Amino acid sequence: MRTRPVIAIDGPVGAGKSTVARKLAEALGFRYLNTGAMYRAVAVAARYNNIDECAADSRLEELLDSITISFIAERVLLNGRDVTDELSQPAIGDLASRLSTRRKVRAHLHQLQRAAGEEGGVVMEGRDIGTAIFPDAEFKFFLTADLEVRAERRFIELTARGVSTTRAEVLSELRERDGRDEGRELAPLRRAEDAIVIDSSKLEIEQVVSAMLARIEHRGGAQ
Ligand code: DC
Repeated sequence: MRTRPVIAIDGPVGAGKSTVARKLAEALGFRYLNTGAMYRAVAVAARYNNIDECAADSRLEELLDSITISFIAERVLLNGRDVTDELSQPAIGDLASRLSTRRKVRAHLHQLQRAAGEEGGVVMEGRDIGTAIFPDAEFKFFLTADLEVRAERRFIELTARGVSTTRAEVLSELRERDGRDEGRELAPLRRAEDAIVIDSSKLEIEQVVSAMLARIEHRGGAQ
């Protein structure tokens, strides 16, 4: 039995999930878990080992058994090494999405994510939190936005981080990633039937957070 709820936030790239989830966790005094960062950390480890989504199951298993992923405040550590800056590279996002189609990878991270949230008091964001990881989450949100809006946000975010790219490149990458995340056989990106949909196309981050807090309060709060 959980004494505090699990709050699931799912949605496509660039909908604002990370910022919203972080702020919501802060407002509630909950932990925040970015599951996309876990897929990205696996991708960093895979790249070091010249492994991609075509690798044999045994190779993937060996890789997954050889890594630890931990979070210290805003930083992500892979086998104790800070890889946070590498995670935002477009090539890592792409490899993470490709590796996330593999059953071994999903099963491994599923177990870690379930264990990390079991006690509740957590805001978890990703693609399949409300559908596969915590279908029993007390609160489920599906955060989305128009493709063009998401691409523009992503472009601004990447250039601010010093990543060299173009708007057209970001748009086509997003379209490809949406297609793969929504079309994969295992735990595809989709809205859980009982998730509250929020379209952030015309909303500021603070408005999205307030809308979520209002829904949580309406259902008796987060205690
Ligand atoms: O949220 P993100 O862009 O950092 O995630 C990177 C990739 O990881 C995403 O394209 C698909 C995969 N992913 C997933 O399959 N399930 C999750 N819960 C989170 C991410």
